[in-house]
Amino acid sequence: MGSGERTTVTTGGGTGQLTGFGNEHSSEAVPGALPVGRNSPQRAPLGLYAEQLSGSAFTEPRAANRRSWLYRIRPSAAHPPFTRIGNGALRGAPFDDTVPDPNRLRWDPLPAPPAGTDFVAGLWTLGGNGDIRQRTGMAVHLYHANTSMKDRVFSDADGELLIVPERGELRLRTEFGVLRAGPGHIVLMPRGVRFRVELPAGEAARGYICENYGRPFVLPDLGPIGANGLAAARDFEAPVAAYEDIEGPVEAVTKFCGNLWATALDHSPLDVVAWHGSHVPYRYDLRRFNVLGSISFDHPDPSIFTVLTAPSDTPGLAGVDFVVFAPRWLVGEDTFRPPYFHRNVMSEYMGLIEGAYDAKAEGFVPGGGSLHNMMSAHGPDRETFERASAADLVPAKVADGLAFMFETRWPVTLTPAAVNEHRPQHGYDNVWEGLQRHFTA
Ligand SMILES: [Fe+2]
Repeated sequence: MGSGERTTVTTGGGTGQLTGFGNEHSSEAVPGALPVGRNSPQRAPLGLYAEQLSGSAFTEPRAANRRSWLYRIRPSAAHPPFTRIGNGALRGAPFDDTVPDPNRLRWDPLPAPPAGTDFVAGLWTLGGNGDIRQRTGMAVHLYHANTSMKDRVFSDADGELLIVPERGELRLRTEFGVLRAGPGHIVLMPRGVRFRVELPAGEAARGYICENYGRPFVLPDLGPIGANGLAAARDFEAPVAAYEDIEGPVEAVTKFCGNLWATALDHSPLDVVAWHGSHVPYRYDLRRFNVLGSISFDHPDPSIFTVLTAPSDTPGLAGVDFVVFAPRWLVGEDTFRPPYFHRNVMSEYMGLIEGAYDAKAEGFVPGGGSLHNMMSAHGPDRETFERASAADLVPAKVADGLAFMFETRWPVTLTPAAVNEHRPQHGYDNVWEGLQRHFTA
């Protein structure tokens, strides 16, 4: 819906950023809009409405507690009923339309979407696990869009969205302000936050999304690594307050228990003039990830590359981890340097943002993906194994490539679309064909 005719967006507020993951941030687009010393005064400043957005139960411990207070032109409660709209290719947990598959699977990028596809219309679900209604598990989605969202906003009641752009720039206008993101960035959009995705360069955009139904992503503990290393809290950027004062029809789409619902507002709900709190969107530049690894021998477990982890009810066992394989030096002596052969109780979905991945010589391309479910055997392909086994072990830079993994404690079950329509590559098993017998006893 929407006229599509309005091109003028009245936006108040700055374009800077606030920094620090998990901080108590605060921002006001108009001086004096943020109450001082209380959250809900009898009359909020400037005639604004005060509204709390809770990302955790009120009573969760401080370390896990997330909420923000929003000071807005109209309260979110002022809306007519939601009605169902089409889900497109978006699906939600439980995923039980196909039989879980123990095979190693790999996909090419999605074909380009039809003209006029915006971020919401272009969401496509590969699969997932858990149960939205139990707030457990995750889903793997791809997005591809060739037009900005116009006169509509989106929010996800089912979980937070970890957005991984692979191609094209995004401008995310959120209730908290504006974030720009492109390939190499990730965006963490908390549960329930409304936003609109625009394509500022006018170019098509595509990428990956991990929808986390469970406890929100946090920075991993560092243990003996110490106080520094991996992703630094200070490198996570939250927007400063910026608001739209727009009268006119806006479609508010929400994803609720796996389905899309919409309601018609007579104003933009991105009308938050000031806010404070900890339930906020972030942008992070993966190129700032401090890659740690072995300086003696052996390839460390890839958990050393964890950017963010979504804890489950078992310490150390993530609902889902987000792991990045970024440029790094390899210096291990007497070491097979690529990722080793393994079978993992966790399930691994991998994607590629740019370049090449050091365990696969070909077939794994930017925008594509692979799935190695629980206990499936995988590792370097034959060519990579032969090359790495014979390599002269001088210090070497893995300079090319930015790959990532959504690693989850439950197997990923595919949607019918990922099995029957956008099918896995034929013959992926062949990359491990021809691994020679070398046993010489
Ligand atoms: Fe793996």
